[in-house]
Amino acid sequence: MKGVPVTASLSLESDIRALLDQAIAAAQHAYIPYSHFAVGAAIRAIDGTVYTGCNIENASFPVTVCGERTALFKAVSEGRRSFDVVVIVSPVGAAPCGMCRQALNEFAPHLRVVLADLEGHVRMDTRLDVLLPGSFGPDDLPH
Ligand code: THU
Repeated sequence: MKGVPVTASLSLESDIRALLDQAIAAAQHAYIPYSHFAVGAAIRAIDGTVYTGCNIENASFPVTVCGERTALFKAVSEGRRSFDVVVIVSPVGAAPCGMCRQALNEFAPHLRVVLADLEGHVRMDTRLDVLLPGSFGPDDLPH
């Protein structure tokens, strides 16, 4: 999480705490025989629907998909394209990788991003446009 300050002892609204619990539950399904690094995510569409995901690794390493993208792609595949918050959990409350930031930016450039560890301790409460400044997105392509 270089360059992004970590805020300690954050309190959360009850709805975000519920998302955090769902992300922790999703992390328990992580398929992680290689890294043993479990990631869970819960993304909320603006209609209130929540989609969860975990990381799914592969013997061909680049085929691995991150937990955030699993949740996002589940949501998009079910017709959701607008989101207000994602909660991501991992052993260290890690920030999303660059590929996941870009994937999320496509649909929700101002998304709230809450990062926590697998015990539910919040490590950061920020926004995607802070994590991915100067982003390249849909408006940069000619329509
Ligand atoms: N991982 C995620 O699920 N999300 C991220 O944003 C970073 C990395 C996963 C991929 C791999 O299964 C494991 O964490 C170690 O890189």
